[in-house]
Amino acid sequence: MCRLELVGLEKTYGSKKQEKRAVQSLTTGFTHGIYGLLGENGAGKTTLMRMIVGILKPTQGQINCDGIPIEQLGGAYRNLLGYLPQDFGYYKEFSAVRFLNYIAALKAIEPKAAKERMEQLLETVGLTEERNKKLKTFSGGMLRRIGIAQALLNEPKILILDEPTAGLDPRERVRFRNIISALGKDRIVILSTHIVSDVEYIADQIMIMKHGQLIQTGTPPQILEPVTGCVWNCVVPVKTAEELNAAYAVSNLRNYNRNDDGNDNKNGIGAYDTVDGGNHEEHVALRIVSKEKPHPDAVAAEPVLEDAYLYYYL
Ligand SMILES: Nc1ncnc2c1ncn2[C@@H]1O[C@H](COP(=O)(O)OP(=O)(O)OP(=O)(O)O)[C@@H](O)[C@H]1O
Ligand SMILES: [Mg+2]
Repeated sequence: MCRLELVGLEKTYGSKKQEKRAVQSLTTGFTHGIYGLLGENGAGKTTLMRMIVGILKPTQGQINCDGIPIEQLGGAYRNLLGYLPQDFGYYKEFSAVRFLNYIAALKAIEPKAAKERMEQLLETVGLTEERNKKLKTFSGGMLRRIGIAQALLNEPKILILDEPTAGLDPRERVRFRNIISALGKDRIVILSTHIVSDVEYIADQIMIMKHGQLIQTGTPPQILEPVTGCVWNCVVPVKTAEELNAAYAVSNLRNYNRNDDGNDNKNGIGAYDTVDGGNHEEHVALRIVSKEKPHPDAVAAEPVLEDAYLYYYL
């Protein structure tokens, strides 16, 4: 197991005239476990990860592994790393097995050990049967799974996954989550995403990144704690919903069905109509993140991570 420390990390792109501070004075630490790095597009997730894997040199600051600067550790540090880049590149004509063999050779893994490891990993990511198929025939989900297998070939102690679930359908997302959740026991896993549900149930620690800074870090309960009392559910007519949507941070909005009250609903679709002064009025169910009660009919709700993400991003 190892300990990773980031101290005053900064990355600025571009010239003095057109500077972009992609990562700013970032200090944090990692021990074993799964770290969910959440942040919107451009928050600095990829820049941070590329510095951690040593591809990008920080403009300022330091990354230490067990107290030693990573540039001093050199190859010894690289041997600890597994990395799935956001723009994961592969050879279309290679089969799964050939690709993994190729990566194993690049990582200078001894052939016998590589073969054993490869068999295990194909099993772990559920691609044993597809082992001889060309990568160009793989679905997005299968490619991500082979991507994770290549990152795990050298049994890394630090696994960096940059948006591993991007573009996956819900079934593949669940499958991926299950693979990843088993990996955090004895290593550092850092996983970036802007999809909260990807990390909600598997991350030991959540890190929320905004404009190059970590604006919040903690276990899921720690992240949720300040948001308690700031989440509200209410069912209102469409017009009121539009006003609330414009005035408040809305974490969910949907047509309201009679079914939601356990009442009869003929087709299960469509909005809830009331006869209001002779007018049929559609209703909408809103979930609002707000410190004060947004509407007289609003009822306080238990926060979930999605609400918290919105709360910190306000
Ligand atoms: N090579 C580069 N040159 C100049 N600016 C860059 C470069 N790479 C990234 N940036 C800028 O730095 C900021 C952070 O980018 P980064 O790719 O790290 O964000 P991200 O959180 O990974 O976003 P996404 O969710 O879209 O992948 C953005 O404003 C981006 O435009
Ligand atoms: Mg990125």
